[in-house]
Amino acid sequence: MNRKLTVNVDKPQNNMDTLYGIFFEDINHAADGGLYGELVRNRSFEFCPVDNPSYHGLTAWEKVEQDGKVRLQIETGNPVHPNNPHYLAMDIVKQGEDVGVWNVGYNTGIPLREKESYNFCCYVKREQDLECPCTVSLRSKEGAIYAEKTFLADMEWKKIELELTSPVTDFEARLTITAKGYGKVYLDFVSLFPKNTFLNKRWGFRRDLAEMIADLKPRFMRFPGGCLVHVGSLDENARDSQYRWKNTLGEPEGRPPRKNVDYNQTLGIGYMEYFEFCKEIGTKPIPVFSAGYDPHSQKAAPLDRMQPWIDDVLDLISFATEGEDTYWGRKRIELGHSEPFPLDTIAIGNEEVGEAFFERYAIIHQAVKEKYPWIKIINSAGPYAEGEGWERGWKSADEWNSEYVDEHYYQSPEWFIGNQFRYDAYSREKSKVFLGEYASKANKWKNALAEASYMIGLERNADIVKYACYAPLLCNVDYVQWNPDMIWFNNHQVYGTPNYYVQKLFMNHHGDVTLDYEYEDKIQQKNEIKTIQGGIILESLGSDILIKEMEIENIHTGEKIVLGDYRIEQGGKENILEKLDWSNYRIRLLFTEMDKEDERDGFRLLFGRRDADNWYAWDAAVGDNRESFVVESNSGIGYVVTQHSWCVTRGRTYCMELEVNDSHICTYVDGKKMHDTISQPMVIAPLYLSAVLDKETGDVIIKGVNMQDKPVAVDIDFSQNVKEEAEVFYLQCNDLDTENSFEEPEKIAIQTRTEQVKDGILTYTFEPYSVNILRMGTDPA
Ligand code: AHR
Repeated sequence: MNRKLTVNVDKPQNNMDTLYGIFFEDINHAADGGLYGELVRNRSFEFCPVDNPSYHGLTAWEKVEQDGKVRLQIETGNPVHPNNPHYLAMDIVKQGEDVGVWNVGYNTGIPLREKESYNFCCYVKREQDLECPCTVSLRSKEGAIYAEKTFLADMEWKKIELELTSPVTDFEARLTITAKGYGKVYLDFVSLFPKNTFLNKRWGFRRDLAEMIADLKPRFMRFPGGCLVHVGSLDENARDSQYRWKNTLGEPEGRPPRKNVDYNQTLGIGYMEYFEFCKEIGTKPIPVFSAGYDPHSQKAAPLDRMQPWIDDVLDLISFATEGEDTYWGRKRIELGHSEPFPLDTIAIGNEEVGEAFFERYAIIHQAVKEKYPWIKIINSAGPYAEGEGWERGWKSADEWNSEYVDEHYYQSPEWFIGNQFRYDAYSREKSKVFLGEYASKANKWKNALAEASYMIGLERNADIVKYACYAPLLCNVDYVQWNPDMIWFNNHQVYGTPNYYVQKLFMNHHGDVTLDYEYEDKIQQKNEIKTIQGGIILESLGSDILIKEMEIENIHTGEKIVLGDYRIEQGGKENILEKLDWSNYRIRLLFTEMDKEDERDGFRLLFGRRDADNWYAWDAAVGDNRESFVVESNSGIGYVVTQHSWCVTRGRTYCMELEVNDSHICTYVDGKKMHDTISQPMVIAPLYLSAVLDKETGDVIIKGVNMQDKPVAVDIDFSQNVKEEAEVFYLQCNDLDTENSFEEPEKIAIQTRTEQVKDGILTYTFEPYSVNILRMGTDPA
């Protein structure tokens, strides 16, 4: 028997016009070596150990010596631009056939495509032999020359701009500069861009990546990070400064090099480029600012010296939105953009927690509201789905009436399925949710499906969940800092993950207003009881630890298992119980961290262990002895359920208690409650459904996710005149472990078909393990 779904097209519910967007984070070489079209790595010879201990001025550069001899040195005496003080002195000590230097690019080399042209640019000067030519060439890694052009140097810096066309396709090529004659040839800002960039812009974005992003049709873009925003020195001129947008404007050769989290950033993609890209792909820019505090190093700007941080925010608002009567508005116009950018929302902080952040948030929040009261501000609830930091962020948002709170979480697919109702329980009276980072920790079809089902829950709560973006967006396969990611690439290929295609379906068929509907199996919270039973293990995560008087008590019967004392060496573990069948129990122990200078983390009390992949843990005094977590692992994917800050004093003894009542977990230290959380049961609903209206086309969009292994046939009544044909866009795969790859980039990809409507009813079968979009044109007649 078919199920029946009635969509009440004339009963609009919540506005969701900005719900799905992207988070462009410069991580995993998403910008340099990624979206930024530059093919030369370390173009200005600015790489240094500050960026990464393995870097130096000649990283990615190698000598070319045939017959002759060259010495490569990095000099600083007379740079092209003071912001980029280093340059290469190529000292030809023995003249030869082919003497110079080449750049090996990113990944396997410089990617060349047959008949495509490339813009070469460099600054050059030399100390003698001015009549001897320099040559730029595109070559194979064996040295075969594909294309070359010559130029002459002067004794002063001269900018050379040339075009080279490649007769071949070679993704392992080299960009080479050689010179005839003797003595020093100086080079700086050696750059090669494909002419074929996104929208054919000079200094533009890599076309395939930009198109993958544009194809999503995101409604907003959060940028530029991520940890990138807050990691680093508070001095904007320091080589490892936090991300300061004013450093990112103007000619590329004048932008200062900066340390990204652990690589170099040229700032070639700067704030102008971010804003312009948003405009080009029709999305709303949402920049993220540091609040003058680095939560990693805990360095904070003094509270009475916050003006530079306030100015960074106010000036950016002026830069984006004001006219030539303001300094920063004029600056934007001078940089070639006379129209303002549509900036109305900003974020202060990227998952920052701790009092130092909230004090500074308050200062910046007030300054923005005073000068630009119409700007909406996103506060921060830290990196975890619940716990002390999350609560503190929401409290701060209450205090300051922040329009939004940025939530971040990376959990298992089981968590996403089990937490479908997370936002149903949120207050409707408080700040709205900006879900700035989330992902289910792998790129398999199972993960994408779980995320899709969760997104249906976001739509059901579109009155309070106003923005949501998967994270991170991009990853270069040879420079992975964070996994999973939505789009993977190397220097010449790109593929979208199943997670990408889910995001694409939901963004391409976004809709603007949710619609009321009736469905017999409407998803609702089921009061299922989940029990946490299984083995118990004690593990030292850092120092030697002493556990005394350990015992387990059955909360219902009072029965006790006395376990006694353990001394666990650094990194060691102790199997305490293979299996505990109770589901209501209290584990009590006395914990002392033994003195040891070099290790800091505390211990893990693993409980409810069903097997190596499925367990719970209380991680106490971890993260450099700063935090305590309840952790859960489902099918090998571990994640933080809830967090609390905590630091132990060596040598002091703490009374630790863990209480489990079915799925309710509480922890106590010296009688004081630390964690209090419920591990939600993973209940798969018969069908996850959402109905939305696209205001522009008048189309009714049904989103349906079937996570079961059997099909669900539904008769859909739109309670209104509809066209005779529905467009269908769907993803389906019976193997939940399926992933896309360079070899099979579209193993999971969007398929389309049409379905006929009979007597006003669309009968549709939601196949097992599928994500479906049904687009139905309404007929006003
Ligand atoms: O998106 C990956 C990282 O996750 C971000 O840098 C940070 O905000 C979070 O910890």
